[in-house]
Amino acid sequence: MSVSIVILAAGQGTRMYSDKPKVLHELAGKTLLEHVYQTAIAIEHTAIHIVYGHGGEQVPEQMQHLDANWVEQKEQLGTAHAVEQALPTIPDDDQVLILYGDVPLITDSSLQALIAAAKDSGFALMTAYLEDPRGYGRIIRDELDNMLAIVEDKDANDEQRRICEINTGLMVVNAGLLKRWISAIENNNKQKEYYLTDIVALAIEDDVPVHSILAEASIEIQGINNRVQLAEAERYYQLLQAHHLMRHGVGLMDPARFDLRGELETGRDVLFDINVVLEGRVIIGNNVRLGANCFLRNCIIGDDTEILPNTIIEKAVLGKGCRVGPFARIRPDTSLSDDVHIGNFVEVKKSEIGNGSKINHLSYVGDSNVGQQTNIGAGVITCNYDGANKYQTIIGDNVFVGSDAQLIAPVTIHSGATIAAGTTVSKNVTAEALAITRPAQREIKNWKRPKKNKE
Ligand code: UD1
Ligand code: CA
Repeated sequence: MSVSIVILAAGQGTRMYSDKPKVLHELAGKTLLEHVYQTAIAIEHTAIHIVYGHGGEQVPEQMQHLDANWVEQKEQLGTAHAVEQALPTIPDDDQVLILYGDVPLITDSSLQALIAAAKDSGFALMTAYLEDPRGYGRIIRDELDNMLAIVEDKDANDEQRRICEINTGLMVVNAGLLKRWISAIENNNKQKEYYLTDIVALAIEDDVPVHSILAEASIEIQGINNRVQLAEAERYYQLLQAHHLMRHGVGLMDPARFDLRGELETGRDVLFDINVVLEGRVIIGNNVRLGANCFLRNCIIGDDTEILPNTIIEKAVLGKGCRVGPFARIRPDTSLSDDVHIGNFVEVKKSEIGNGSKINHLSYVGDSNVGQQTNIGAGVITCNYDGANKYQTIIGDNVFVGSDAQLIAPVTIHSGATIAAGTTVSKNVTAEALAITRPAQREIKNWKRPKKNKE
């Protein structure tokens, strides 16, 4: 039995108050649609059809990396009309699994159970019991508990509105039956829409029983209609990820204050303090600690490295045994070799720093190549930009750059050189030499400080 998957993603999402189509809003760094797609591909299938519409080509353009058959629904005339757009290319023998692009937490195991429930009659629906069922389609059953119909909230009478079993919208239906029923649906209802939910009553007319199951966890069927629900889904998803990581050995001081918006790979004995945010792809070695409030995106951190609080690291590779922060900023295309120390209020951009070198306080090092065992003092600035172009600073091994030096690129300081504090280096410095540009100190004796004028 083959399964074709249809993901409905044409709706506008009015209640997001956003210019972006709803399914492009992000949950843990991925769009809602990517979450649904990722779950879909975990299920054996023949094809994935994504029905898009509102927001024009934005959705297929931004999500073109998804291997799917994109089907446009030009006008949003209802869920039955949306599914209908995808049907022509689906073989009659297939089972059609219908998913919503704005229901991102559904799991493949709940969907497998739904597919299994549809095996005998060819129709199974996922339902849920809600304390507050307002807004949802209600499940109407007979006294033997057989499903008879779904009535939309707007079309329901008072008695029907009291029913707490609701339609989640997720279902599996045999394609041949679905085609027949959808062609019979009319839009004579309050919303003048073609309701997919009308196929339940049509199935009963055809003596096809409709089976139902519940999701494994009730939150899985939660649709995202507004930013409150989006934030709730985010917190739930983050906690799931945090628990998964902890069960695999990652230490988190507080799983409720940890955010992973991408993929994380870690070694053993990794410990994260509170408010760590990780984005993109982050790879962390053994015995690494991240202090409170660190933000890392797309980086690799070597074994035994310690990142102290409030440090930001982006698109960088850090070696083993480094110590970075507190309050350090490592910007893209930086690589630190082993045992490098980067201290507070130091910014490093597009630079390579050799083994054992130290930049401990208040410096800017950009477009630079620094050798091994070199010490860069407090407040050193590589002046890499002349207002039009950027230039390289090359610093050898065992160099000592005194505090408050400015290194005007392009410039090379050869190994073993010493730069006196306060020096402005504008020419290359020879190996082992001392460079100093400092006016001699003079004194004015008995200097009287200015006094405040009387009013
Ligand atoms: C629908 C169900 C309702 C169910 C609820 C669950 C129908 C008629 N009603 O109602 O029984 O309880 O979902 O959340 O099916 N979409 C399109 N094209 C359209 C209309 C909708 O692609 O023309 C997509 C939307 O983007 C969304 C999904 O279909 O992903 C559901 O549409 P929505 O308008 O949210 O349905 P509800 O009125 O909430
Ligand atoms: Ca609607």
